[in-house]
Amino acid sequence: MPRGLFITLEGLDGSGKTTQIKRLAGWMEKRHLKTAVTRQPGGTATGDRIRELLLDSRSAALAPMAEMALMFADRAQAVAEVIEPALAAGTTVLCDRFTDSTEAYQGGGRELGSAIVLEMHRLVVGDLQPDLTLLLLPSLEVSLSRARRRNDRQTAQTGKDEGRFEQEQDAFYRRVWEKYREIAAREPERVVLIEGNLGIDEVQEQIVEAVAERLVVGGKTL
Ligand code: TYD
Repeated sequence: MPRGLFITLEGLDGSGKTTQIKRLAGWMEKRHLKTAVTRQPGGTATGDRIRELLLDSRSAALAPMAEMALMFADRAQAVAEVIEPALAAGTTVLCDRFTDSTEAYQGGGRELGSAIVLEMHRLVVGDLQPDLTLLLLPSLEVSLSRARRRNDRQTAQTGKDEGRFEQEQDAFYRRVWEKYREIAAREPERVVLIEGNLGIDEVQEQIVEAVAERLVVGGKTL
């Protein structure tokens, strides 16, 4: 059985990834393509607990190295429990964030650098890389204001505090944004960069085009 396609979505907080992943999953379902949707951190029972620890504002004193190691602990669990079995069964996996997030946020944002993140990926995750990464990168200004508005709303509605990253300063997000651009320039084959302040439908069109190009069903490209 051919392996499933491993597709990741990346971008800053507030880039609209979550909306797009839902739409893409709907598009895949309509075509009767076996699809699994997951996210990082989280996506497994253990991962959800790691996620809570990572995103809660009370974890404020978390050392950057500890933060990175927890991201990879979460990832190792997700790969073993969800991603690898799905791919092996021929299912396409749509994953909201993967190692590019660690490179952008811990490598760039926290200034640990790319090398250590890539080395950790090799040790923990091995050869597994996304076949396609959709990087949503509206302007930094737009991303920042969306993330802050969303965080305020979420905390008011659910009482759940997942705001540790959203409380970071603009300089942190600038470094994340720049690292994402660096990754896209380094790996243009894998990473499809969707830039600009586009509407939801326009972004979806670009996503579907990139995915369809890589999906081959019964020997035919969709
Ligand atoms: P999430 O709610 O998934 O963010 P969004 O919906 O904006 O994608 O929260 C995940 C947060 O964790 C986000 O701020 C980015 C951060 N993160 C890292 O710093 N490193 C990582 O490796 C991953 C996977 C996420």
